[in-house]
Amino acid sequence: MADVRIRPVTELDIEAICRIDERITGKYRPDAWEDRVIYYIRRDPDSSQVAEIGGRVVGFMLGEVRGGEFGLEEPTGWVEFFGVLPDARDKGVGRSLIEALLARFKSQGAHVARTMVRSEDKDIDAFIRRNGFAPAPVTALEKRL
Ligand SMILES: CC(C)(COP(=O)(O)OP(=O)(O)OC[C@H]1O[C@@H](n2cnc3c(N)ncnc32)[C@H](O)[C@@H]1OP(=O)(O)O)[C@@H](O)C(=O)NCCC(=O)NCCS
Repeated sequence: MADVRIRPVTELDIEAICRIDERITGKYRPDAWEDRVIYYIRRDPDSSQVAEIGGRVVGFMLGEVRGGEFGLEEPTGWVEFFGVLPDARDKGVGRSLIEALLARFKSQGAHVARTMVRSEDKDIDAFIRRNGFAPAPVTALEKRL
C-alpha cells in the first residue's frame, strides 16, 4: 500500500475536494462543496476525513453520526460522499478512508454504519461491499415532484 496519511477534513480542503469531484464527475461545483464540507465539519467535526499521499489530498470521505432515520433511533454512522483521484486508486486509499470513518463512528457510540448507493453505481457498490457492508432491510422509495 502507498504511504497514505488519513486526517480529519478542514475548511482548507474544500478546494482539493472540489477538484477531486471535478475529476470524477466533470463538474466544477465550488459552492456546493463549500456548503457540504462546512455542514459536515459543523455537525460532526471528527468523522469526515481526507487522504494525503506526499502531502497532496488524493481522496475524501464525508459522513456523520445521527439517529432517527427510517424510524431507527439507534445512532448510525452515515457514509455519504467520497471520492479518490483516479491515479490514486487501487492502492487502499478508499479502504483507509472508510476504516477511519467507521472507527470514528464507533468511538461516538454508533453500532451500525449505513450508506445509500444508486443501483447503477456498480463500482461504488463493489467498493462498499468489499468493506463489509451488506444490503439493509429497508426499501428506498421516491416520488418525482
Ligand atoms: C470507489 C472508490 C472510492 C475506491 O477507491 P480506491 O482507493 O480505489 O479503493 P481501495 O483501493 O481502497 O479498495 C478497497 C477495496 O474495494 C475494492 N474495490 C474498489 N473499487 C472497486 C471496484 N470498482 N470494483 C470492485 N472492487 C473494488 C478493492 O478491490 C479493495 O478490495 P480488496 O482490498 O479486498 O481487494 C474510487 O474508485 C472512487 O472514488 N470512485 C468514484 C466515487 C464517486 O463517484 N464519487 C462521487 C462523489 S460522492
